[in-house]
Amino acid sequence: MPEAGHYGHKKNDGICNGVCSSEPASKAVVAMSRLKCALRGFDFRVLLALLIGVPIVILMVYTHGQKVTYFLRPIWESPPKPFKIIPHYYHENVTMENLCKLHGWKVRETPRRVVDAVLFSNELDILELRWNELSPYVSEFVLLESNSTFTGLTKPLHFKENRQRFEFAESRLTYGMVGGRFVKGENPFVEESYQRVYLDRLIKISRIKDDDILIMSDVDEIPSGHTINLLRWCDDTPEIIHLQLRNYLYSFEFLLDDKSWRASIHRYRSGKTRYAHFRQTDELLADSGWHCSFCFRHISDFAFKMQAYSHVDRIRFKYFLNPERIQDVICRGADLFDMLPEEYTFQEIIAKLGAIPSTYSAVHLPSFLLQNADRFRYLLPGNCRRESG
Ligand SMILES: *[C@@H]1O[C@H](CO)[C@@H](O)[C@H](O)[C@H]1NC(C)=O
Ligand SMILES: *[C@@H]1O[C@H](CO)[C@@H](O)[C@H](O)[C@H]1NC(C)=O
Repeated sequence: MPEAGHYGHKKNDGICNGVCSSEPASKAVVAMSRLKCALRGFDFRVLLALLIGVPIVILMVYTHGQKVTYFLRPIWESPPKPFKIIPHYYHENVTMENLCKLHGWKVRETPRRVVDAVLFSNELDILELRWNELSPYVSEFVLLESNSTFTGLTKPLHFKENRQRFEFAESRLTYGMVGGRFVKGENPFVEESYQRVYLDRLIKISRIKDDDILIMSDVDEIPSGHTINLLRWCDDTPEIIHLQLRNYLYSFEFLLDDKSWRASIHRYRSGKTRYAHFRQTDELLADSGWHCSFCFRHISDFAFKMQAYSHVDRIRFKYFLNPERIQDVICRGADLFDMLPEEYTFQEIIAKLGAIPSTYSAVHLPSFLLQNADRFRYLLPGNCRRESG
């Protein structure tokens, strides 16, 4: 761009002319003063840029540092090995024999027993949806709660205090409580794995037997009933299989994607099976249920969850916990922590930028939710306002 350069040069001269033109002297002196002028102009602009630019850059990195690193994630991190996705066939008007056959499996004479084991925090509504969805297929419910959050905050024993709500599961329930260790400043994952080890013991105490089906998932990762029914009725299913769940945020109004995979189903082997919430195999059964994150009734539950679990470091500003802000974020389908999508390619990051669009479909949701729509209204599309208590 010769024009721009020329313009810059002329302008530079212009500034200096005013300051320097009165000096009548030799060529050398003129050259010197020109150099000085050029330097002075240069210094001035650099200084100005530094004075304004550096604080802006520092402020941007401070407020958006996470965004910068997340946006650049595709450069420094490659995606994990893709799952082998198993097609999932289901229709209520197809026999179990045919469903098993469609998956390449044989149907059993009698179904396997099913044990559902969860680590419980405070998500009572979601637990009620979960247990009602799974109840027709589950032989044993196992639930562990603690008086400590993963971040070492004291928490009430929400399940124990509301146990009468789960009367229908009582005869099949193995309940356990583990006291927190309350270590200050520790990585939340340490308390989490400590609690999962306890859950393993509790599963052993329950009436689980070898070859039973064990569901390992967080409370808010709800396998659909028909998925569990399929896996308990068919033979030759994989020993361990992950479930692909639809990812929802705040309620069933905001469908993010179908990439939830942490839930897994195990054929129980005593002494070998360990409760885990990470990737354990390559096989993933498609469209097997719902993962409803941050699906709480009260605004206060959101603030609690934001501080209680492995998200604490994301609360970069106190105002993130402001109830009006939380309510506004929920209704927009935006991000509570003002973060960028965690993706592995620029294409996916860009596709997911901004708020999640609303879905108006309440088709294929947990049946107990629709049967009790009045009680769980806030989980259905078009009802984002929460109770403030
Ligand atoms: C499927 O539905 C049709 C029509 O409603 C019915 O006649 C048929 O018996 C059903 N089949 C099965 C396998 O349930
Ligand atoms: C947590 O539970 C343990 C075990 O019951 C108990 O000893 C401890 O005092 C409790 N801590 C708090 C802070 O409630």
